[in-house]
Amino acid sequence: RLILRIVCDDSSALYKLNYQFGASLHDTRHLLTVARQLNLDVIGVSFHVGGGCPEVDAWSVAISNAKRVFEEGAEIGFSFSLLDIGGGFPGEPTAHIHFDDICDAVSVALEEHFPADSRVRVIAEPGRYMVGSALTLVVNVIAKRTVFCGNDETGTKEAENMLYVNDGVFGSFFIRKLYNDVPFPTLLEAVEDEGKEKCRTSIWGPTCAGLDCILADVMMPDVDVGSWLAFENMGAYGVVVAPGFNGFPKPSLYLASDPEKPRRLSEVVKKEKEEKEKEERGTAVQEHPSH
Ligand SMILES: Cc1ncc(COP(=O)(O)O)c(C=O)c1O
Repeated sequence: RLILRIVCDDSSALYKLNYQFGASLHDTRHLLTVARQLNLDVIGVSFHVGGGCPEVDAWSVAISNAKRVFEEGAEIGFSFSLLDIGGGFPGEPTAHIHFDDICDAVSVALEEHFPADSRVRVIAEPGRYMVGSALTLVVNVIAKRTVFCGNDETGTKEAENMLYVNDGVFGSFFIRKLYNDVPFPTLLEAVEDEGKEKCRTSIWGPTCAGLDCILADVMMPDVDVGSWLAFENMGAYGVVVAPGFNGFPKPSLYLASDPEKPRRLSEVVKKEKEEKEKEERGTAVQEHPSH
């Protein structure tokens, strides 16, 4: 059984998916005609408005377009029974669009174009909505250097902190960086830095690649090696798609159900690190008893 995916206007979406997939509305009639000639079983229509779509109208327009394709299908001899409204629903509380508003727009459009008596089954493919806020990524600052860059206009030199952390663009930030969707981190030990002046900062991953820049030119407190940074809402398109270049391990996953989880999590991670180091020291002593 086949579903015909139609193209959407995803020009305002963060993650554009419609260059790659989706039939133009100019092509659907031809495609369905050929499908009919080939005796293919096309059962409905799908679309995806693009990830991080900021406009509820995108769903309304797409549902209305899908209805047109249903009508074309009927004229050609199909009896479609499925509408798949894809994903694109927000998954973090900071999103510019509210899930409830999307639901309202979708309900109105379905009521108009696919009322209950049309007996069309409507499904969705929520991705980010299910997991976006489920994961906070906590990284450790493993190295730091301060460089001084000349400012041509003022003739002065400006300091920039380059922070190197133990996850990067070839890890959890791979897709997020590609789509310019890296959240701003919070410093877990923020209290100590209250009131201190912020510094120009760039945050780098641990690999040898010059592309491994997670965030450039941001203003942050003067962070020391050993500090922990928390990136919230990293559940979608994060660690799950990490390519792992240079062989760095993927971050460990810890379950926590406490709203204070980043602070607690840092304690868990620190403890684990200490225990691992202790264990390693123990092994080293056993392997090299003379040391
Ligand atoms: C076909 C399809 N369905 C659903 C999704 C999930 O999208 P989102 O995370 O925007 O809800 C994607 C994401 O790429 C997709 O390609």
